[in-house]
Amino acid sequence: MGRMRVRPSGPLGGRVRVGGAKNSALKLMAATVLAPGTSTLWNVPAISDVEWMADVLRALGVEVTPEGGGKLTVNAGGDITPEAPYELVERMRASTALIGPLLARCGEAHVAMPGGDDFGSRPIDLHLSGLEVLGATFELAHGTIHGRAERLVGGRVVLEYPSVGATETVMLAATLAEGVTAIENAAREPEIADLGAFLNRMGAKVTGAGSPTVRVEGVAELRPASHEVIPDRIEAATFIAAVGIAGGEVVVEGARHEHMAQLVRKFGEMGMRISPERDGLWVMARDRLQPISVATLPYPGVATDYLPLVMPLLAVADGTSFATENLFGGRFRYLGELARMGARIEVEGHHVVVEGVEWLSGAPVRAFDIRAGAGMVVAGLRAEGETFVHDSEHLDRGYEDFVGRLVSIGADVESLDD
Ligand code: EPU
Repeated sequence: MGRMRVRPSGPLGGRVRVGGAKNSALKLMAATVLAPGTSTLWNVPAISDVEWMADVLRALGVEVTPEGGGKLTVNAGGDITPEAPYELVERMRASTALIGPLLARCGEAHVAMPGGDDFGSRPIDLHLSGLEVLGATFELAHGTIHGRAERLVGGRVVLEYPSVGATETVMLAATLAEGVTAIENAAREPEIADLGAFLNRMGAKVTGAGSPTVRVEGVAELRPASHEVIPDRIEAATFIAAVGIAGGEVVVEGARHEHMAQLVRKFGEMGMRISPERDGLWVMARDRLQPISVATLPYPGVATDYLPLVMPLLAVADGTSFATENLFGGRFRYLGELARMGARIEVEGHHVVVEGVEWLSGAPVRAFDIRAGAGMVVAGLRAEGETFVHDSEHLDRGYEDFVGRLVSIGADVESLDD
């Protein structure tokens, strides 16, 4: 179990680089299964979720080799066993991204049904009903989803909700289906556009990835390809939030304004100044932050993953803020931890009212998931005394060398695990 100590910090200064997007890298790794041979991914973050996805792929018979410097080679040239066991899936929900590629390549997929997590129950019904349109059938037995498809045939998939995972699952399977698949009400996240770009390099015919309608014309086979993962917008948001709460002037290298425009606008409303640079975002915060209203929405709205990072800023803003979480009903557990640090928070269903205080108060707190943990670290930067973030290993799932990079811009943060 990891533990981090955070002390009041700021003003922060200098330059910090964001790594490759976790939620893109994991799906690109899943996509490599579609093509026999060796694919190469660049800018892959050295985080535990990537290691775990590598373990899942190895269990299927795929060779995965981290080459250092963000390079990852994946050889899916051998025989593939279309079975992802519970021990691996349970560690990482994103293993469900393998259902589509396994069905397309092997005609079957046996993947343990992921359970609930700190976000509440997270169903995959939209993934499965999308694949059913393409001709797959599913059966749940003994906690495992058994999917079969002698052949996949393109069709019109209308998603009830623009789910990121369901959009990706259908895209992945449709690449090798006969005929054309149209995914309507598709999720539009930049990670989906990145997946579409990689699939096209592999020889797929995908258009509209990143828009509400994705069209996939099936091809007979795909070939291995090489691709560079887009920068992680949530990680960029984490460093921007750190500057917001601690003050200072930092260049967040690699951050792409066009991937996080709504959030940048919200930070601007709070009084921060943010402008695009050639390779990143220049960020400055000088005065006490102003309160705002913010609601999470599917892309291009403010992402649900940003809220645990923004909440500490609301907690110290000069007035009353309102926040609404529209995606995951159970994603508020971390608010109790923030309250232990002196934040004045009232929760009503999926709405939160935050009465800003001038300073938080350092306390032992728990990281319930990656972003909640990062939010606790951000909060600790403006908390009198010391904040100890327990279970900080959650942060290693999504952030490479988080402590080192925060320290490099002047944050007083230390990892205490030995
Ligand atoms: N939903 C369904 N049925 C489904 C799929 C989703 O009801 O079949 C619901 C979910 O319960 C939720 C909403 O739809 O209420 C959104 O879920 P979505 O499928 O869009 O999310 P996801 O694909 O499971 C990804 C990211 C999450 C991020 C969400 C939303 C990955 C590995 N995960 O999850 O990121 O919060 O999109 O943007 O890509 C993280 O990085 O820590 C993380 C949790």
